[in-house]
Amino acid sequence: MIETIQQLKTVIEQDLATIHDPASLETFRLKHLVKKGTLQELVEQMRSVPKEEKPMIGKVLNELRNFVELHFSEAKERVEQKDTGIETLDVTLPGNIPMIGHVHPIRQTLDRIIDIFAGMGFSVAEGIDIEDDYHNYEALNFPADHPARDMQDTFFIKDQKRNDVMLRSHTSPVQIRMMKNHQPPIRSIMPGRVYRNEAVTARSLAEFHQVEGLYIDKGVTFADLKGTVTSFAKQMYGEDSKFTFRPSYFPFTEPSAEVDINCYLCKGNGCRVCKHSGWLEICGCGMVHPNVLRNCGIDPDIYSGFAFGFGIERVTMLATGIDDIRHLYENDMRILSQF
Ligand code: PHE
Repeated sequence: MIETIQQLKTVIEQDLATIHDPASLETFRLKHLVKKGTLQELVEQMRSVPKEEKPMIGKVLNELRNFVELHFSEAKERVEQKDTGIETLDVTLPGNIPMIGHVHPIRQTLDRIIDIFAGMGFSVAEGIDIEDDYHNYEALNFPADHPARDMQDTFFIKDQKRNDVMLRSHTSPVQIRMMKNHQPPIRSIMPGRVYRNEAVTARSLAEFHQVEGLYIDKGVTFADLKGTVTSFAKQMYGEDSKFTFRPSYFPFTEPSAEVDINCYLCKGNGCRVCKHSGWLEICGCGMVHPNVLRNCGIDPDIYSGFAFGFGIERVTMLATGIDDIRHLYENDMRILSQF
């Protein structure tokens, strides 16, 4: 009997070596592992084995059964893996090439703006997005119930202890923080994100970017403001672009102005983008109001200065020709990859 078991083992070993596809796997199973297979046949022969030999022979037969089961399941796994294609993977095929990103057009514009102002001696400073009423309004000469507060529809933040916390509606509060923390001369630009409760349209967003500019020193005049803004605009938009300074009002500057550039689309003839005026507003500016200087501990009899602020999205639209501001934030690679 032992001999028969050993012979079967030899046959099984040879048969295992022939398994390399589902068909040979099945042939092996039908020959050895089914009810009428070779293993079961030996089990039946156990009946005629004398009683005292049964434990010893049974043990050897069990070992053979374990051996077959182990190697059969290994062979099965091998064959199934082949079926899923893992082993037939063609490693010479070209891979999926990942798309390589690049600097977003808004950031490109900001980098260019920083470059131009750095060339005129301006440093870069940043403020905070969550401001209080004092920095966003009060210190900028907006008294508590001044109607100019309505110029910027503000998002207030619910707080159990305070009711004066808000998302900053412009970058001008950074002026206050600069002047309180630094002695003049001050010459900085302050880029950052601002928030207004405005409907999202082709021309406006509720969350956008501004760059603030501030220059405080002895004897700074409106001529310096005009020269600085014009020099920036010519470098940004081209030597032959045209600008006008139009009188305007901001509580924190006096006198105040807005700067318009001739429309990039219609070249001043009037179109949909410039609302048929031929001009696009690009910048608010003015001489820092004496009250603001005083609020920051700077003596307006000794120092004077100018401030300006403009939207980075607007500059990007003018520079790229994108006519819908929303395109800048939809993350459509067909648009972004053009810049
Ligand atoms: N903060 C103003 C705005 O958001 C712009 C501005 C900045 C005007 C600095 C004058 C001086 O509308």
